[in-house]
Amino acid sequence: MTIATFRSTPPRFLMCPPQHFAVTYSINPWMDPAAWADRGDALHASAEVQWQGLHAALLSSGAAIETVVPHAGLPDLVFTANAAVVLDGKALVARFRHPERQREQPVFAGAFRALAARGLIDQVIEMPQGVALEGAGDCLWDAGRGLFWMGCGFRSDAAAAESVQSVFNVPCVALELANPSYYHLDTAMCALPCGAVVYYPGAFTAAALDAIHQRVAPADRIALNADDAAQFAANAICAGRTIILSSCSEDLRRSLEARGYAVVATPLTAFQRSGGSACCLTLRLDHVSQAQVAARRLAAAG
Ligand code: ARG
Repeated sequence: MTIATFRSTPPRFLMCPPQHFAVTYSINPWMDPAAWADRGDALHASAEVQWQGLHAALLSSGAAIETVVPHAGLPDLVFTANAAVVLDGKALVARFRHPERQREQPVFAGAFRALAARGLIDQVIEMPQGVALEGAGDCLWDAGRGLFWMGCGFRSDAAAAESVQSVFNVPCVALELANPSYYHLDTAMCALPCGAVVYYPGAFTAAALDAIHQRVAPADRIALNADDAAQFAANAICAGRTIILSSCSEDLRRSLEARGYAVVATPLTAFQRSGGSACCLTLRLDHVSQAQVAARRLAAAG
């Protein structure tokens, strides 16, 4: 592969159609199965339309999309961000905290084996027994800093940071989450390729905020207010210079645009009833570390 073709590879995401999406149990404060059941058909119909909207927005940003086959009885399978942590062609498959979602593990593992058979993933790796890590939903790749930010406390175990470091050979900074509404790191943080970090301070313990502030200079901090956080503005997808999210304030939009991004809002309110939005519905399959970029350059040159 030449450097030119390597660079022009489109961002590649994994998604799962919402055929079986519903709120049938409650494992976070956003989930209200009774409220869903009251208007189940209408909400399901709007989830279908909203998912198609996100899918279309990603395609028009230039992304490539792979899909997981939906499964009856696994309503949260749509949240593919939780399937695995992926970097340099390695997929570290999630181990979920709650039994309701543990049933997704074999389905996601099968999906990664199928991606491996097509050459889109090189290696499928399991988490050690007894250590929970809910995929990229709790483990955000920060390309500029060359590290993972990992959320822990509600879903993933702090000990998972060691697995991440040893599998991917990059630093992993554990951030303890303090607010049950922001139970996965990607509900409260988004690391942008320019080095800016969008985050909701109200989601973190004081120690976690210190860890963020130590590594992110003031000019790179985009702190959200409670309103933006509650509309899942931190749960954004960045593909190239496009940022896709459900909705955000005019202030946030202006501050992202000032950094050179085009902001695309596509409503995902039906999924927010399950505690998830844009980023949760996708998993980036093609993130690479600097070490991998250098190795690929060497291979291409030789
Ligand atoms: N209902 C799902 C859960 O509570 C939502 C997951 C959202 N995913 C995410 N990456 N934040 O597990």
